[in-house]
Amino acid sequence: MMREALDFAGRQVRALILRDPDFSPGYTHQGRWRHTLPAWTHWCDGFLPGIMWILCARGDGSWREPAERYTRRLEPRQFDREVHDLGFLFLSTYGRWHALTGDLALQAVLIQAGRTLALRFREKGAYLRSFVSEDSLFIDIMMNVGIVFHAAKATRDEGLLDIAMRHCLTTRRVLVRGDGSTAHEGIFDLETGEFLRQSTQQGFRGDSCWSRGLAWALYGFGTAYRHARDARFLLTAEACADFYIAACPADGVPPWDFDAPPENRGLVDTSAAAIAASGLLQLADLAGDAVKAKGYGDAARRILATLCERYLAAGDPEWEGILKGGVYHLHKGLGVNESVMWGEYFFVEALDRALRDA
Ligand code: GLY
Repeated sequence: MMREALDFAGRQVRALILRDPDFSPGYTHQGRWRHTLPAWTHWCDGFLPGIMWILCARGDGSWREPAERYTRRLEPRQFDREVHDLGFLFLSTYGRWHALTGDLALQAVLIQAGRTLALRFREKGAYLRSFVSEDSLFIDIMMNVGIVFHAAKATRDEGLLDIAMRHCLTTRRVLVRGDGSTAHEGIFDLETGEFLRQSTQQGFRGDSCWSRGLAWALYGFGTAYRHARDARFLLTAEACADFYIAACPADGVPPWDFDAPPENRGLVDTSAAAIAASGLLQLADLAGDAVKAKGYGDAARRILATLCERYLAAGDPEWEGILKGGVYHLHKGLGVNESVMWGEYFFVEALDRALRDA
């Protein structure tokens, strides 16, 4: 079933790049990638080539040329100061390419992207600021701070390492709650650096748990532990994973927000499920305790089985995406119950991980 899903993913991506060459979509509208709705922020361009790199590394060399072509277009963005998403953009593309070849020119791009992201660090408050404003920290940045760790290790730059560590510790302190749930955003006093309150952009409320944010935390703290081997990050990733598993329905696919109100509680976010599946598989490798590791692996496979059985677009020839049922920004009405490119990417990554483990 997982192998068939991966084959279907490859066919949908091939059809997309033949239909609309060099187009880099973020989310579908009524199942179509090409539309005129806004992006809100430009963070998705690494995911499509990232899928190509995964399929290429699985042994299909026909993906190499388009993967390189779509990746090279990102090169100027190593200097992009507008977004906090340089990990999403570069780890999925230059990171995978570099892992395949060891080419130092590719490593130089990754290092610059890490240095550029580190420029968002605010000493007062000790966090990498989000794209919306100086006083804002997003849980999503836990998925991007990995590129700062990468650059710090590649250059042995203690200053960069310090920034990455302090960002993770601040996020842990202010956005991860005692029960393992997470807030989407934190707001700081710019004068003093004091943490003021939890807030949200895409979740239901400041005190709710936006499902995708929790999935970013589960995965991102696992990655931080992989880089830094600081036990606090592993404990945090496990707390988020335990909350996800306990709060989800038995099929492993969460409502768009774990505290969603009755009127839209039935709306799921399959992209949160795909991210969680991949993050749980990573955690299964990292967890020292064999019983815990088995629990995380089983939970990930349960999520993937549900996604393959119930949310694959394979039965709908008009639908251009891979996975149905993603939600981008409910309040803005963008990408609601649609395919979303990060959902496609982490779904393919999770399938690849699960198949390799098997
Ligand atoms: N802004 C990143 C996300 O929608 O998860």
